[in-house]
Amino acid sequence: MPDIHTIDGTDISGKRVIMRVDFNVSLNPDHSIADDARIQAAIPTLKYLLEHKNKLVLMSHLGRPKGRDPQFSLAPVAAKLQEYLPSHTIKLVDDFLSDRSALENQQDTEILLLENIRFYPEEKKNDAGFARELSHLGDVYVNDAFGCSHRAHASVVGITEYLPSYAGLLLKREIEMISRITENPEHPVVAILGGSKISSKIHLVERLLEIADYLVLGGGIANTFLQAQGYGIGKSIAEYEEEEAARKMLFQAVQKNTRIIFPADVVVAGGLDWQSGEVKGITEVPEDMMILDIGPETQARIGTILATARTIVWNGPVGYFENAAFRRGTDFIYYAITENTGAVSIVGGGDTLSAISKKEYLDKITHISTGGGAMLEFIEKGTLPGIEALRK
Ligand code: 3PG
Repeated sequence: MPDIHTIDGTDISGKRVIMRVDFNVSLNPDHSIADDARIQAAIPTLKYLLEHKNKLVLMSHLGRPKGRDPQFSLAPVAAKLQEYLPSHTIKLVDDFLSDRSALENQQDTEILLLENIRFYPEEKKNDAGFARELSHLGDVYVNDAFGCSHRAHASVVGITEYLPSYAGLLLKREIEMISRITENPEHPVVAILGGSKISSKIHLVERLLEIADYLVLGGGIANTFLQAQGYGIGKSIAEYEEEEAARKMLFQAVQKNTRIIFPADVVVAGGLDWQSGEVKGITEVPEDMMILDIGPETQARIGTILATARTIVWNGPVGYFENAAFRRGTDFIYYAITENTGAVSIVGGGDTLSAISKKEYLDKITHISTGGGAMLEFIEKGTLPGIEALRK
């Protein structure tokens, strides 16, 4: 655990607490919340602070709005939060800069949620004046937004210059759990990396090669590596400009004694919307087809590796899971992880969580991270700007 103060290690009571949460949830087209896991994850910290008779002002972003845009309003979030905290009234504060009345008249039974903090361009610029304005809304600052602690923004980093600052219970748990991968993990360590792009994950892979005994690659990332080794991948997505980097990583893997596991067989189809695919050996991918999932032989191989793992980390689906015809590989990996209850298993990333969120046995995973990019950056660097800011 880094040298930071946490809310349960300090007496914070009777204070006004300004708190950063990550309520950046996915919305359905009708603006209802598709998955409220991030809201649920913040509840223990909220309840803890409320039990200690604090008044709460919450800040979050939602999406990546360009200026004030009702499409990105936190209103659906406020309504959902209200369901979880029925004995309090959740009030959405439209613009805290121009109207302070809700803040000045806040009752003990009210929780204030500032409207999307990214409606203010100063937020992403980590503007000092804006951070100071935010700091005026509390006596102490709490960061419980692990999912955006890799962003050096005003509500994550800048504000800590002006207030005594603490980690909330979720941030603390995320650090403790993900550190189980990065600090003296139990071996064998198996890392599974899927998703479409390797370009944003090169340093992460380099770090994983130091930690893991096996690195299982799927999705577009695997395609780039396959292409770099001369396999024909047809119309599959891949990052051709990263082939050189992929070859370098293959060399590093040999040096670090990490086995990289590629698909030995795959499911191919002519398009993302096909209702079914065909299993092909990795040397037999037709030129007019795309790889959309790992095949059964590859699943079996990964299953054997996962069964003996002591530490497992998984980020990114290994196929086009949005189409049920191509989600078998991703489902298989999920169930294989839940089967190995002797291992520490850490799973994170927006797409990965969408792929598994409605499943049974979620409680068999040691830790489901609320962070996507934040989790990967924490594994890579061992810390995040939002955590470093709490050290002061
Ligand atoms: C996330 O969803 O990963 C976090 O909320 C951060 O969002 P951002 O990538 O828009 O900064």
